[in-house]
Amino acid sequence: MWPDRRLLQLFKTEFPIVLAPMAGAMDAELVIAAAQGGALGSLPCALLSAEKAREQINIIRQRVSAPVNMNFFCHKAVDADPRREATWRQRLTPYYQEHGLDPAAPINSALRAPFDAALCEVVEELKPEIVSFHFGLPDQALLSRVKAAGCIVMSSATTVREAIWLEEHGAEIIIAQGAEAGGHRGMFLTDNIAEQPGTFALVPQVVDAVKVPVVAAGGIADGRGIAAAFALGASGVQIGSAYLRCPESRVSAPARIALAQARDDSTVITNVMTGRPARGVTNRVMREVGPISPDAPAFPHAATGLAPLKAAAEKQGKVDFTNLWAGQAVRMGREMPAAELTRALAGSALARMSQMAG
Ligand SMILES: Cc1cc2nc3c(=O)[nH]c(=O)nc-3n(C[C@H](O)[C@H](O)[C@H](O)COP(=O)(O)O)c2cc1C
Repeated sequence: MWPDRRLLQLFKTEFPIVLAPMAGAMDAELVIAAAQGGALGSLPCALLSAEKAREQINIIRQRVSAPVNMNFFCHKAVDADPRREATWRQRLTPYYQEHGLDPAAPINSALRAPFDAALCEVVEELKPEIVSFHFGLPDQALLSRVKAAGCIVMSSATTVREAIWLEEHGAEIIIAQGAEAGGHRGMFLTDNIAEQPGTFALVPQVVDAVKVPVVAAGGIADGRGIAAAFALGASGVQIGSAYLRCPESRVSAPARIALAQARDDSTVITNVMTGRPARGVTNRVMREVGPISPDAPAFPHAATGLAPLKAAAEKQGKVDFTNLWAGQAVRMGREMPAAELTRALAGSALARMSQMAG
C-alpha cells in the first residue's frame, strides 16, 4: 500500500511516519502516544542531561514495545563571548526594566550541550533502534560507537550539498528539511537562510543525489502532504508542528493559544531566541529585536539573556519571550490524541494515494 517500504523495514513501525523530536515541546508521553498509533516516536535529548535522557527512555520502554529514536544536537560548542553577551544584555535592558528584573544578575545558562561521550554511553546502554542528529553528525569516533551499538543513524539536510555530505559521512537515512519546517534549521554547511530551499524543491533533488532513504520534513501536516512527499520520491515523512496541540505534548497553555491562532503567514525564521536560525510563530522579541539580529550571541547563548524575561512574562500568561517553534503548516495541526492523529494521517495519506492511482 505504501509506494516505498524501505523505512517500514528499517524502522519496523506500522507507518513510515516519524514524530519529529521537538525539544522543549514534548517528552516521553508524546513519544509513547505516537508510537502507539504506529509512528516512530522521537525523544528530543538536546535539553536533557544523560541521566534525564535515560529516565525518559526507561519510561518509554516500560509503556510500549515499539522502536524509538533518540535525537541529539551535534553543533560545535562555543564559549560565550563576553563582549557579545554585554551587547545583548544591553539590547534587552529595556525589557528587563519593564519586568522589574536586574540586567546584571547572573543567569544559569540553559543546557543545549552537543552530543558527547556521556550521552554516547547512554545510547550504548539503552540501544535505541534509531539515533537522529541535527546540525550534521558527531565526530567519527562517537558515530562509530553509536553504530556499533546497533542504532540506525539519521540526520537532517537542508540542501543537496548537506545531504551528500551526510551520506558520505555515514548517515543511513537523510531527513530533507525544507524551509517550511518548524524549529531549528538543521543547516551545518551554510548559514545563508535566504538560500534555504522549500520542501517541494528540496526533496526530489535530495532523492536524486543520495542512495539512502529520504524522509521529507517541513510543512507536512495531513494526508495530502504525506502523499505529495511520496510523489516526490520520499520514503517517509517527519512531522512536528501538526502534533504540537496534541494533549500529550508539553506545550504550555498560553503557547497552545498562540499556536491555535497561528495562520499560514504567522511564522518566521529568527536567530534571536537561541542564536541559530529557527522557525517559529512571531512573538514580541522576534518582532521588536529581530527576526534576525546581528547582536544575538552564538547558539545557544542568545537564549541565556532571554531566560529571565521568558520566565517573568510567562508568569503573566504572556509568550513575548517564549520559543513558539512551529512550521508554516502549524494551522493544520489538530487537537486530538497523538495515536489517533497518527492513524488519521496514515489513513488519509493511503486513501489519497489510492485515489490518485485510480
Ligand atoms: C517545536 C519544535 C521543536 C523542534 N525541535 C527539534 C529538535 O529538538 N531536534 C530536531 O532534530 N528537530 C527539531 N525540530 C524540527 C523537526 O525535526 C522537523 O524538521 C520539523 O518539525 C518539520 O516541520 P513541521 O514542523 O512543519 O512538521 C523541531 C520542530 C518544532 C516544531
